[in-house]
Amino acid sequence: MSITNQLKTIIIELLTELGIENPSVSFEHPTELVHGDYSTNVAMVYAKELKKNPRVLAEEVKKYIQNQKPDTIENIEIAGPGFINFFLSKQFFVDSLKHIIREGDQFGSNQDGAGKKVLVEYSSPNIAKPFTVGHLRSTIIGDAVANLLAFSGYTVIRDNHLGDWGTQFGKLIVAIKKWGDFEAIKKSQTPIKELVDLYVKFHDEAEKDASLEDEGRAWFTKLEQGDSDARALWQMCVALSMQEFDRIYARLRVSAFDTALGESFFEDKMAAVLVDVKATNIAKESEGAYLIFFDEEKTKLPPLMLTKKDGSSLYALRDLAADRYRRETYGTDITIINEVGAEQSQYFRQIFEAEELLGYFPKSQRVHIGHGLYRFAEGKMSTRKGNVIWLDDILNEAEKRAGELNEATKTDVALAAIKFNDLKREAIKDIVFDWDEILNLHGDTGPYLQYAHARCVSVLEKARESLIEPVATDTLQQAGSVEKLVYRFPEIVSRATSEYAPHYIATYLIELAHAFSTYYAETKIVDPEDHLSPYKVGLTKAVKIVLKNGLSLLGIPTPEKM
Ligand code: ARG
Repeated sequence: MSITNQLKTIIIELLTELGIENPSVSFEHPTELVHGDYSTNVAMVYAKELKKNPRVLAEEVKKYIQNQKPDTIENIEIAGPGFINFFLSKQFFVDSLKHIIREGDQFGSNQDGAGKKVLVEYSSPNIAKPFTVGHLRSTIIGDAVANLLAFSGYTVIRDNHLGDWGTQFGKLIVAIKKWGDFEAIKKSQTPIKELVDLYVKFHDEAEKDASLEDEGRAWFTKLEQGDSDARALWQMCVALSMQEFDRIYARLRVSAFDTALGESFFEDKMAAVLVDVKATNIAKESEGAYLIFFDEEKTKLPPLMLTKKDGSSLYALRDLAADRYRRETYGTDITIINEVGAEQSQYFRQIFEAEELLGYFPKSQRVHIGHGLYRFAEGKMSTRKGNVIWLDDILNEAEKRAGELNEATKTDVALAAIKFNDLKREAIKDIVFDWDEILNLHGDTGPYLQYAHARCVSVLEKARESLIEPVATDTLQQAGSVEKLVYRFPEIVSRATSEYAPHYIATYLIELAHAFSTYYAETKIVDPEDHLSPYKVGLTKAVKIVLKNGLSLLGIPTPEKM
């Protein structure tokens, strides 16, 4: 039983004896380590009902617990208006160190998700458009969330929902036919750039000549109807883009996708959705277009358009078809997560509402993880205008800067810098891009954590040379910050997983690395003359294990030397 569960049982026993019905007890870690390892406000919660001063009740709780002498608790203090603070025993820290070393690369994992299935959809770039920083964020966050779920025992399906269908392909076909040379594009070193240039040109020209838009729509209708000319052009765009995306995924070293069905895959599955929609009476036709109307009072959501006046399908219809298909393919009990920019938040609320009305999935099985924008000095980026920062440029620049420090590890360090800069904050927050911030070896960055890890590795190597084995012995005199943080990793993993929030891992690793760095500066860890040295080496090993496991969850490599 965990310490908090053990304490909870004891406290509930007392409160029930005192006459409280179904008391609930919660714990947290005090912000400052000196205030203890766990804290509960239970005395303040129930004091009024028991007509007692909270501090008096807290004292009673303290005595009651102390009478049972739990071996994990060394001391209990009452603080402030009635907080009960618990200090863990030396034995607890020694035992947890043993446990960490024994578990190694499995330390932190759990089986919360055993027998449960989850599909994580992320990245989802658009064909014939650049892989934007928005897709970069989705790829990085989605990969980390999928890693976390797998580490917690879930069966995870990694799904790339490629944007390979829609009116934009009609526009692109017009542009290729009017101004492009497909053979030249295929031979080009940068075919996607050529296609995007054409796409941008289309929009420039359409501002002058509105009939181009109609032409684009007409070509998309042809594409939907299976016109062979349109299909062939489209297929080539898909093939060129996929090559490019695969190159990017390899460069980002993200896990392979289990499925990468494009929106086009759901083309012949949309009719079935329209049948369901008509059967449930939630949609109305308006001038030939089909829309789902929601209960305005309750949901505050605008109608969701499924088809256009000309009958061509829309993004939302393809999403409904995708989820209907997923339900059939993976089972009704699957949870579906979409990692997509926060600008689509309202859209996903509409989709979730519609899927509940249609009986596809209850909202409890649908999750949208929204990420904020990447902001550069110039403001928001848009593909259509072409002022996009290319992903390769960002990676190249990161590698160039990292290479100035060490050529051998530059790709590892560049990945750490870019991924950690993203994962260290709540996904929903915007990122303001600042090179000096993200590559700083001393700040709260990915390279800093890699560096802390490599330092542990070199300490362990030195210990091996001096024949000092890392062990968790009870030579520990007093637990310091490192001990007080390192055992918490499994809790952090649980929280990050259940909230789909990798940033809890990121901020925790920084805290641990800071504590270790102070410890390292103050302590001679490897010292054959010191009988405490094996313990100190053991502690270093535990820190290394947690840094490595944590960084791996974030998709960040951990070079042994830096
Ligand atoms: N391709 C879309 C875009 O780049 C993202 C797709 C998100 N997923 C979904 N099921 N709609 O904006």
